[in-house]
Amino acid sequence: MRVMVINGGPRRAGNTTKVLGWLASDLADGGHEVDAVHLADQEIRGCISCFGCKREGTGFNCILKDDGTDLLSRIKAADATVLGAPLYFWEFPAKMKALIDRCFCLAAGYGSDEHRSALDGKALALAVTCGGPMEGNADLIVEAYQRIAAFLRADAVGELVVTGTTHEPKDLPEDARDKTRALAEAISTRAG
Ligand SMILES: Cc1cc2nc3c(=O)[nH]c(=O)nc-3n(C[C@H](O)[C@H](O)[C@H](O)COP(=O)(O)O)c2cc1C
Repeated sequence: MRVMVINGGPRRAGNTTKVLGWLASDLADGGHEVDAVHLADQEIRGCISCFGCKREGTGFNCILKDDGTDLLSRIKAADATVLGAPLYFWEFPAKMKALIDRCFCLAAGYGSDEHRSALDGKALALAVTCGGPMEGNADLIVEAYQRIAAFLRADAVGELVVTGTTHEPKDLPEDARDKTRALAEAISTRAG
């Protein structure tokens, strides 16, 4: 299966990059095709609420033309997508938030019997690194991820939250590597 691994943080050699590198290599070792992207290299505008994607016949496509257009296509083509990010003010950092908002085009009819999505039944996972703890801190992004999965009619297959980081990736907590393996396993198991 194809797994899109998105790094939504700005640091090229930071904690999130290190953890997502482990995850990508675990997935590749499991025989999966990994499509990795770092949003630091991408130009992505946020959603402008034009509702162009809701017009008849647009087929779950965003009408904005930038790197986000290609990323949305790659997300649709993948069997599973990993939202990877450092925790910023209890939530996703800016570029990842811009991409998530652009995912507005991928579903329609939320909250009604007409709810449908281009990601229906696909796997969605979360991989976060943060300096603080889970409770009263990273729990908010986990909740947001679960709601995003529900909006997209995707299966929330698992979340990896590496707490207690410093600015130095070499000092990642000891359990970070095992937690990463567990997420790779959860993605593999669910998405076949
Ligand atoms: C702007 C900013 C906001 C942050 N907000 C939080 C936060 O709300 N909670 C937390 O635990 N850590 C917070 N942190 C710390 C980072 O999430 C943490 O150091 C993370 O592992 C950095 O990952 P990176 O090395 O990939 O950038 C923040 C860091 C920055 C720069």
